[in-house]
Amino acid sequence: MSINLKGRNFLTLKDFTSEEITYLLDLAADFKDKKKKHIAVDTHRGKNIALIFEKTSTRTRCSFEVAAHDLGIMTTYLAEGSQIGKKESIADTARVLGRMYEGIEYRGFEQKIVEDLAKYSGVPVWNGLTNEYHPTQMLADMLTIREHLGSLKGKKLVYFGDARYNIGNSLCIVCSKLGLNFTACTNKKYFPSQSLVDECAAWNKESGGSITLTEDIESAVKDADIIYTDVWVSMGEPDEVWEERIKDLKPYQVTSDVVKKAKPSAIFMHDLPSFHNLDTTIGKEISKKFGITEMEVTDEVFESSQSVVFDEAENRMHTIKAVIAATI
Ligand code: CP
Ligand code: NVA
Repeated sequence: MSINLKGRNFLTLKDFTSEEITYLLDLAADFKDKKKKHIAVDTHRGKNIALIFEKTSTRTRCSFEVAAHDLGIMTTYLAEGSQIGKKESIADTARVLGRMYEGIEYRGFEQKIVEDLAKYSGVPVWNGLTNEYHPTQMLADMLTIREHLGSLKGKKLVYFGDARYNIGNSLCIVCSKLGLNFTACTNKKYFPSQSLVDECAAWNKESGGSITLTEDIESAVKDADIIYTDVWVSMGEPDEVWEERIKDLKPYQVTSDVVKKAKPSAIFMHDLPSFHNLDTTIGKEISKKFGITEMEVTDEVFESSQSVVFDEAENRMHTIKAVIAATI
């Protein structure tokens, strides 16, 4: 079956079949191989794309910029200083950018915003993270798993922490689409919504994957192939949530004791940035205020040989390149 994604938006993986996701992973792997061999891929020369960032970023912004440059595409970075959302609505912004650019990336708040951009711009729109979903991260994660473990179907991925935000939700979706067994192991306040789990059931039926929600660490981590976590407090959440979040999620910190209970071949993943030590401006503030030195993962696990977090970070660029090239 030939796959053609030209003109498609990339807003959530809910909209993509397993064949389409696999196509993007294969394309990314091909781009990665070509990059290592210094083979040029600037097939999109003369095109322009806009990158809107209403939240901060290192990996996603750099990935879009480098990927675009490799494809021969010019980028415009829009953050502070643009009219977006302040003097001009998203619908108006979308119609302006759609006249000048062949594609638009958006990172920011509600999913509705990126959907409106797509609705009004008339060009492909890519979700670079919203409160609800982070689909480009999922492609990088799946490529990384495939590289390290050889395949995706039937692998057990255990996610610790806040499973009802962008990363938890998106893992739930991508695992269901591609047939991985997804376990969210956390305080039940942070389980993905029942409506999302119900929606995933149909994809799991087809793919052979499954979703388990549990508060029990022992059973969750048993036979795990992948251990994954994310920050306990996400961008845009109010400072007031820190105290409760630390109390609720500290029992679900990824420590070497937890990792030891998984398969010996298990890999550790994190979308990054990570509070594996608190040696950053925000980290130091948190450390001082709450008397802790590590959060979602210990420094020992983060720096261990089982950790593949920097492969994951690199793969953001190759997979984003695939998304841009396939949809423009
Ligand atoms: N993982 C990720 O999206 O990283 P950035 O916030 O640095 O873009
Ligand atoms: N859940 C995190 C992901 C960062 C890539 C956040 O939204 O801040």
